[in-house]
Amino acid sequence: MALKDTIQTLMTQMEGLKAANAEELEALRIKYLSKKGEITALFNEFRSVPAEEKRELGQLLNHLRQTAETRINDLREKINDQMAGDQSVNDLTRTPDPIALGTRHPLSLVREEIEEIFSRIGFTIAQGPEVEDDKHVYGMLNFAPEHPARDMQDTFFIEKEIGVQKPTDVLLRSHTSSVQTRVMTSQKPPIRVLCPGRVYRNEAISARAHCFFHQVEGLYIDKNVSFADLREALLYFSKEMFGPETKIRLRPSYFPFTEPSAEMDISCNICGGTGCSFCKGTGWVEILGCGMVDPNVLEACGIDSKVYSGFAFGMGVERITNLKYRVKDLRLFSENDVRFLRQFESC
Ligand code: PHE
Repeated sequence: MALKDTIQTLMTQMEGLKAANAEELEALRIKYLSKKGEITALFNEFRSVPAEEKRELGQLLNHLRQTAETRINDLREKINDQMAGDQSVNDLTRTPDPIALGTRHPLSLVREEIEEIFSRIGFTIAQGPEVEDDKHVYGMLNFAPEHPARDMQDTFFIEKEIGVQKPTDVLLRSHTSSVQTRVMTSQKPPIRVLCPGRVYRNEAISARAHCFFHQVEGLYIDKNVSFADLREALLYFSKEMFGPETKIRLRPSYFPFTEPSAEMDISCNICGGTGCSFCKGTGWVEILGCGMVDPNVLEACGIDSKVYSGFAFGMGVERITNLKYRVKDLRLFSENDVRFLRQFESC
């Protein structure tokens, strides 16, 4: 038979190719496509075809081989599917594989606990954008124009046009105090809000620092708010969070947006205040910054500082989580290693 006719006959055979199981299928593969298979043999025959017929016959032959391969692969998939189906109907009483549930992230657990404690004394949640402008992050918060926190060393400024490195006033917020300025300019006192969220700073990543972390800041503005109110609110929070024996200590500090300002330590909840390696033998660990809202900030946000006063505080969620769960390396929080995350399953 001429080569062309043989190709046509085999082509017709391909349409009706059938295999009931893997063995029959393998027999078909050997019959047509193996080294000694019928289609392979035609390629040998093809070598002696006259030059003027090569083009047409070559195309037909390639098409035949492709059709055979596709057909055999389709049959293989069908047989595999059948086998999988057979297995699942074998035992209808088989317990299904359980759907693997994830666990809450430790930072979410701790953030929610902080929110819950402050909600008991009347704080509600406020949120704002992570991509902010200079005015809300620094300007209205009484940062001097040359304050180093505005410097590109500490803050991620956003380029307005890609590739154009000009200083802009668009940046990733470096604290959630920006949400406080947004609340103060859009609401009238009394104000009692908690501002949780992610913040960004240009830090080299290590066990103790990261270029992003999470904060919860708080703001309370009303008539006659005093430093004693600040102290009582923070003492209440510390006892609820770390246990009723917890003591607090306020040390004078400086923030542009509060006056007076303080840093708050709690008695070390690991050694109970007797001194250990965690608290470097001092018995105290620093957990937050706070102070009375600077009158300049109130005025910049359109609140009359002669009528109203207020306090603010801000803490890092990672730090509180470290204290509660003793996580030694900050990087674990963002690596999403399930071996780490699973440890908080029962918290
Ligand atoms: N915004 C400060 C920080 O990010 C924390 C803070 C908030 C301090 C409110 C005082 C009052 O470090």
